[in-house]
Amino acid sequence: MNIIWSDKLKTGITKIDEQHQFIVEALSGVQVSKLKGAKLFNLLINLQAYLSTHFDLEESYMKDTNYPEYAIHKANHDKVLQDTKNILTQNNGNHSPSEVALQFVKYMQRWFFEHYQNTDIKMAEYLKQNIDKINKS
Ligand SMILES: [Fe+2]
Repeated sequence: MNIIWSDKLKTGITKIDEQHQFIVEALSGVQVSKLKGAKLFNLLINLQAYLSTHFDLEESYMKDTNYPEYAIHKANHDKVLQDTKNILTQNNGNHSPSEVALQFVKYMQRWFFEHYQNTDIKMAEYLKQNIDKINKS
């Protein structure tokens, strides 16, 4: 599965959409990247760190609005952070950075699409109805 960013993937929450767009485009960027070795690996590490920042944003919105499905949504985020960490740390073994990158991108694309459809759209509908409760500070 190869995800291309389009307006169809928008939730209607601007900051979330900007970050989703960044993630989707960064994954495509990894696929066409000519980077190798440690540089490629660093790109993946940075992308994983960005993912963590993105989850923090969604989680703060959910907390601000007392989203009833916060716990299950956060558990999904936590699983992704652990899974991607596992993919990245196996680099110490027999896998080249290119193999790790391929695995990382495949995992992330499949996950993003499922999570977006099953979890983020639902959350965004709730956030839009409770937008006045979101702490903008
Ligand atoms: Fe999410």
